[in-house]
Amino acid sequence: MDIPKLFSPGPTPLSRDVLAALASPPLHHRSEAFSQVVSKVYDLLPLLFDEENQVVLSSTGTGGLEAALINFASYKDHVLSVNAGKFGERWGDLCKVYGLSHNSFTSPWGKKINLQNLKSHISTHEPSVFCMQACETSTGSSFDLKQIKKILPKNCLFIVDGITAVGAYPLSMKEAGIDVLIAGSQKALGLPVGLSIVAFSDRAKEKAKTSDLPRFYFDILKELKNIKNSTSTTWSTPTQLWQALLVELEKLNHNTGLSDKLKLNKEAQNLIFNWVKDTDFELFSECPSLSLTALLAPPNISTKKIQTKLIKEGYFIGAGQGSFKDKLIRIGHMANVDLDDLKKLLSLLKKTLEESESIRI
Ligand SMILES: Cc1ncc(COP(=O)(O)O)c(C=O)c1O
Repeated sequence: MDIPKLFSPGPTPLSRDVLAALASPPLHHRSEAFSQVVSKVYDLLPLLFDEENQVVLSSTGTGGLEAALINFASYKDHVLSVNAGKFGERWGDLCKVYGLSHNSFTSPWGKKINLQNLKSHISTHEPSVFCMQACETSTGSSFDLKQIKKILPKNCLFIVDGITAVGAYPLSMKEAGIDVLIAGSQKALGLPVGLSIVAFSDRAKEKAKTSDLPRFYFDILKELKNIKNSTSTTWSTPTQLWQALLVELEKLNHNTGLSDKLKLNKEAQNLIFNWVKDTDFELFSECPSLSLTALLAPPNISTKKIQTKLIKEGYFIGAGQGSFKDKLIRIGHMANVDLDDLKKLLSLLKKTLEESESIRI
């Protein structure tokens, strides 16, 4: 069976070196050889975050979000989160499960965040923890984190879901004033599903010492202690994924760097922006992300049907989510994107649109 090329907003295509690392014989997670991998990974991780404290967890991105909330928030906190799409909803869901005091700031899908409205929400709710997405994957939007940081109360902890942002372009936690930033392996890092990374400031680390939420598996300070004391993870871990992570981090360190990733993602984005001008599709987001582009289909056109047709042609793109399920296509271009393949995908897409009878709702 031919496997469709991935242009979804995650998982993303894997490079040959990553595939080779994944196919290598597994190291034991308590072996000296694996400790060396862990040590090198931790040396290089600041490249992604511009911050010194990180833990790598065996989980999907959502596990990273949960770990961030339960390790850095406390029951006395009030959490405010931005709900600007499918993933923004998740902060509220997590707070509910853990019984945290919480309000959402709802922002229309695909629109810029209205800073004036957010500011008045902040003064009404006085949050001590503020959570949002750097890139809202359901709408292909990227938010201005520096501007948002400016209107947060000084003592408020700023937690950012960077699952489709970290690795796609430089995102310095120090410059943006982010306290906790979460990455997921299957997105801009160009790895399979299975690792999340939580990076945090010294201020967040201090706050974690007094956090009183229940946790067992996701204990970030315990994880940090084990890494520092024995270069070892708390639990068993998928060692091949770590080896693959090291491959990608070494590439970033030696030859490419995040500014090159940004350049490549911009080129991909421009190809799509130019393509869309000749179609009846519209760019969905007012603040388009560099990781993926969401396009709004003309009325009567089913994006689920487009997705199914393209899979048969060998390309996997994302359709919409929530109430935009059958209205959006989302093309991921955040990791190892091949521009020639993207051009082929766009011309196939054009052909599919010309045969519009078969993709009508
Ligand atoms: C912004 C964002 N947050 C959270 C998630 C959830 O990650 P996972 O599916 O790896 O748990 C995703 C996945 O698409 C995402 O794009």
